Amino acid sequence: MGSSNPFRLGILGSGCGTNFVAINAAIERRRIPVEVSIVVSDIEDSEILSHARRCNVNSRFIDPGTYRTKLDDATEKIYVSTLLEAQVDLVVLAGFMRILKGELLKAFEGRVINIHPSLLPSFPGLEACQQALDYGVKFTGATVHFVDQGIDSGPIISQETVPVLDDDTPQSLHERIQLAEHKIYPEAIAAIAGGEVRQKGRRTYISSSQ
Ligand code: GAR
Repeated sequence: MGSSNPFRLGILGSGCGTNFVAINAAIERRRIPVEVSIVVSDIEDSEILSHARRCNVNSRFIDPGTYRTKLDDATEKIYVSTLLEAQVDLVVLAGFMRILKGELLKAFEGRVINIHPSLLPSFPGLEACQQALDYGVKFTGATVHFVDQGIDSGPIISQETVPVLDDDTPQSLHERIQLAEHKIYPEAIAAIAGGEVRQKGRRTYISSSQ
């Protein structure tokens, strides 16, 4: 990968943007040979957009349309054209709280990843930390995975475990899980950018760790 042709990320988020900040910090420390081409959010006043502006990263709010949990077809097309225009190699979902089903997954087939605050396949979907506490598990964690048409169901790239403490609330547990997320997400992106991630069926292999 030459410096004239960097590996470009398009980061999509709806919330606080702490994963964007961790990824961007890892890039700035030159721990990962990539650049953030664009940050896109479906929430106009989201913190992720403020963080992007503060870090001088190209960013854009795109109105999500009429649905609450997904993008309508016309809107998804705008997301796709924005990401294509930014010459994105990898779409990185970082707290993007809408289900992607159609155009975007087609346009970036095998090139969309997500981070989820549980050890998938346990506790997919919303309120993963509350689900973990309700179930009573002693360990949960964070998962980076490829995105497919299901909910948090694509092939797993990496995971890290986090213990559940007796006095945990969903918030305290989520804060500890986020520390793990901030470590494994930049690592997974670096591995993908470096061509080190191989996929065979549902299993993925990272060559540098074998
Ligand atoms: C992260 O903890 C991520 O795992 C979660 O949203 C948070 C976003 O935090 N994603 C999901 O729950 C997706 N199912 P951030 O905006 O601070 O990066």
